[in-house]
Amino acid sequence: MRKKIVAGNWKMNKNLPEAKGLLADLTAKFAQQPNAEIIVAPTSVNLQFAAETVKGSAIKVAAQNMHQAENGAFTGEISADMLKSIGVETVILGHSERRAYFGETDALLADKVATALKHDMTVIFCFGEELEERKSDKHFAVVESQLKNALFSLDASAWKQIVLAYEPVWAIGTGETASPEQAQEMHAFIRKTIADAVSPAVAEEVSILYGGSVKPANAQEIFAKPDVDGGLIGGASLDAESFAAIGAAI
Ligand code: 13P
Repeated sequence: MRKKIVAGNWKMNKNLPEAKGLLADLTAKFAQQPNAEIIVAPTSVNLQFAAETVKGSAIKVAAQNMHQAENGAFTGEISADMLKSIGVETVILGHSERRAYFGETDALLADKVATALKHDMTVIFCFGEELEERKSDKHFAVVESQLKNALFSLDASAWKQIVLAYEPVWAIGTGETASPEQAQEMHAFIRKTIADAVSPAVAEEVSILYGGSVKPANAQEIFAKPDVDGGLIGGASLDAESFAAIGAAI
């Protein structure tokens, strides 16, 4: 049975006192064992605090990014070893904001994924088409090539550490979600593509999250689709009540 996951990507939000407040509220709200794995991804300066705070709770902590090198002269960057040393075992890679604003390419992401896996981390790998690509009916081809370039050379056994997050760029922070039918259509396509390129068993086991303007009001109908295994939540993860409601919608 593949895992259900609800993850909150806090992006560049919440200073330390705010992060403390949100984590306190979230650990209280998720005190009963939730139906999904609950993950929060605070900004890097708050990761250590977050990792210590969630110990013994149902919540896991993820980083929002990581460098591909082991260590060295990469001013401002954070390594897999540093994340692991503070108890962070999961990293989001390939977010569309990293691709758009920080020039991250599929080839770079393949390197980052390889480094994360070498350190036995779990990767939440993000991908998705832009509005123009959907309008011109290229969305399936774009998604297939993002997956192929970054992930399809992995050994089948490495996929145990991979979670996929389909995030159509036009739905991120815009209030416009993919309809549940559009999400299901793409998730089914992703699973079929992985079945063909990797193996049917891997396709069946990999969790595929949907991200893009998921809110308490629409989470349930999106999560109800058979190939949607949870969500990667941006704006609505910054408020304990709305994130808890989304976590309960699975
Ligand atoms: P929003 O939920 O704010 O649209 O953001 C989605 C996202 O980018 C999560 O990584």
